[in-house]
Amino acid sequence: MKAIYLDYAATTPVDPEVIEAMHPYFRETFGNPSSIHSFGQQARTAVEDAREKVASSLGAKPAEIVFTSSGTESDNYAIKGIACANRRKGNHIITTTVEHHAVMEPSHFLEREGFEVTFLPVDSHGLVDPQEIARAITGKTVLVSIMHANNEIGTLQPIAEIGKITRERGVCFHTDAVQTFGHMPFTVDDLNVDLLSLSAHKLYGPKGVGALYIRQGVRLEPHMHGGEQEGKRRASTHNVPGIVGLAKAVDLAQRFMSEEGSRIAALRDKLIRGLFDRIDRVRLNGHPDRRLANNVNISVGYCEGEAMILSLDLMGIACSTGSACSSTSVEPSHVLRAIGLSIEETRGSLRFSLGRYTEESEIDQVLEVLPKIVRRLRAMSPAYRSISAGRGTGG
Ligand SMILES: Cc1ncc(COP(=O)(O)O)c(C=O)c1O
Repeated sequence: MKAIYLDYAATTPVDPEVIEAMHPYFRETFGNPSSIHSFGQQARTAVEDAREKVASSLGAKPAEIVFTSSGTESDNYAIKGIACANRRKGNHIITTTVEHHAVMEPSHFLEREGFEVTFLPVDSHGLVDPQEIARAITGKTVLVSIMHANNEIGTLQPIAEIGKITRERGVCFHTDAVQTFGHMPFTVDDLNVDLLSLSAHKLYGPKGVGALYIRQGVRLEPHMHGGEQEGKRRASTHNVPGIVGLAKAVDLAQRFMSEEGSRIAALRDKLIRGLFDRIDRVRLNGHPDRRLANNVNISVGYCEGEAMILSLDLMGIACSTGSACSSTSVEPSHVLRAIGLSIEETRGSLRFSLGRYTEESEIDQVLEVLPKIVRRLRAMSPAYRSISAGRGTGG
C-alpha cells in the first residue's frame, strides 16, 4: 500500500531539482562566503544570486533580504528586533490570538520584559477586523504583527488592508507568510508590509533555512551577535546549500504556482464535499472561501482527533490535529479555541494539507477510509450511541 502524505503544512518533501541544485555546495563549492579566496567568493556569489532570486519574487531589493535559519527565527528577529530598537519610542505591540507559536512566544517574552501586547480576537472564521487594529493603535505602538494565512485553519487575513492602516498611522507592520510564500503570488508592496517571514521547508526546499524581508529604512536590533554576515544584521556562517535550495524552491514555485494552486484547490474542495456527504456532525474550521488552497480542517463530532490520526496512520494516511508543532502537547489548539470551538470540538479536529504530489486517487482513498474509521470509533462512544438512539426514536 502506497503511503499517503497529507501534512504539507507541517513540512514538504524537498523537490528533486532543489536537491540537485544544492548538491555542489556541500563538497565542490564548499567555501565560506566570508573568505576572500576563490572558494569563498564562489560561495558568496551563490548566496548573492539566491538573495536576488528571493528578493525579486517578493518585488523587493536584494539588500532587504536577510537569510535566517527558519520561519521561527525570522518571526523572533522581526518582533524582538523591532521592540528592542524602539524601546525609547514605545512599548506596545499588536498581534492576534491565532498566531503561530513563533509569534506568540516572543510576544509573551516581551510582555515579561515590560512590553504591553494586545492580542486581538478573531471572528468564528478566524478573521481579524482591520478596524479593531486601527482602534488598538496608540502613540506607544511600535509593531503590528498579523499572519498572512493561518497554519491550522488556513484563513487568509486582510493583510493589504491592515497594511494601509499601519502605514497611515506610521506603525511598522510584520506578517508571517510562512504558509503562503511560494504558494500564492504577492509582493511586499501588494501587501503593504515592512517585514515578512518565510521558510524554505514549506515550499519543497530544505529545513533549517528561512528569510526575513526588512523594508529599506526599517531598523531592527540584531539578535545574533558575532560576525559581520548579512550586513551585520544576522551573524553566523551562511548555510550555503540551504540558501541555494531556498532560491531553487522559489524558482520552481514561480513556475508551478498558478497551475498547482488551482489543481490543489479543486482536490481540497472535493475532499471537503466528500467528507460532508459521508460523515454527519462534521464542521469545517476556518473561512469557507478566504482559505489556503491546500487546507482542510474539520471537527468530527463524537470522535477524538488522536484516535482518528492513529487509525488513519495504520491505513498509511498521514495528517494532523492542529499544528505539527503542538503534536506533543495535550493542550487544545489555541487557534480552534480562539474561533469559538468547545474543548470537545477541538479534540475532534483533523487537518489535511495537500501539496504538489497529492493525487486524486489519494483523496478518494481518504474518502473511503475515514468514514469507516469514524463509524468504528463512534460505535465505542456511549454519548454518540445515546444521541443516535434518541434520533431514531424521534427524540
Ligand atoms: C505560520 C507559521 N509560522 C512559522 C512557522 C515556523 O517555521 P519553521 O518551521 O521554519 O521554524 C511555521 C511552521 O509550521 C508556520 O506554519
